[in-house]
Amino acid sequence: MAPSDVVRVVEIALAAWESIYEARRQRMGNALFDAIHPDWRAEKARQVRSGCTASSSALLAVAEVHSGKGIATEVVGFVTCYVPENGIGEIGNNAVHPDWQGRSIAPVMYRHVCDRLRERGVRFVRVQTGGDPAHAPARRAYEKAGFGICLPKVDYYQEL
Ligand SMILES: CC(C)(COP(=O)(O)OP(=O)(O)OC[C@H]1O[C@@H](n2cnc3c(N)ncnc32)[C@H](O)[C@@H]1OP(=O)(O)O)[C@@H](O)C(=O)NCCC(=O)NCCS
Repeated sequence: MAPSDVVRVVEIALAAWESIYEARRQRMGNALFDAIHPDWRAEKARQVRSGCTASSSALLAVAEVHSGKGIATEVVGFVTCYVPENGIGEIGNNAVHPDWQGRSIAPVMYRHVCDRLRERGVRFVRVQTGGDPAHAPARRAYEKAGFGICLPKVDYYQEL
């Protein structure tokens, strides 16, 4: 990922998360959703920009599609990753533009990051995702890339 890719990366993130946030709104109801995410687009854009800030442990990659000889490449996906002090690699925000989903691009990105981590001597890698239906593609893509040890987690809310 080059610094000049970040604008496109944020555009991909906002397009890719639209349906996930819509599903979350449906599930939570407007009041709770708006309390937690007053502006999800700004929140996600901030998160993604911050995840794309190069640091010594950051691994930042984009997936490019080459349309043919002499034709400019298009960035269609991205993945962010870092290694915290516990030494376990952590895949962070990542997405594939909806126009390019369903072509096994994400598993290629995850395997690329895992290969780079392995080269650095990292032994384990973690990724966290949602258990809801909107995250089914993410869960499937992680499993396709070899993530097989799964600890489910549940978030409960109550209106007071
Ligand atoms: C998760 C994500 C990166 C996967 O990218 P991808 O390149 O489409 O991944 P894959 O092509 O391997 O698809 C994974 C699964 O999603 C499902 N899927 C993908 N595109 C689909 C589509 N257009 N319609 C229905 N299902 C689809 C399929 O079940 C597919 O599994 P299969 O190959 O066994 O059929 C992408 O869906 C995305 O950007 N989602 C929104 C952001 C997100 O959830 N990021 C991860 C946060 S933890």
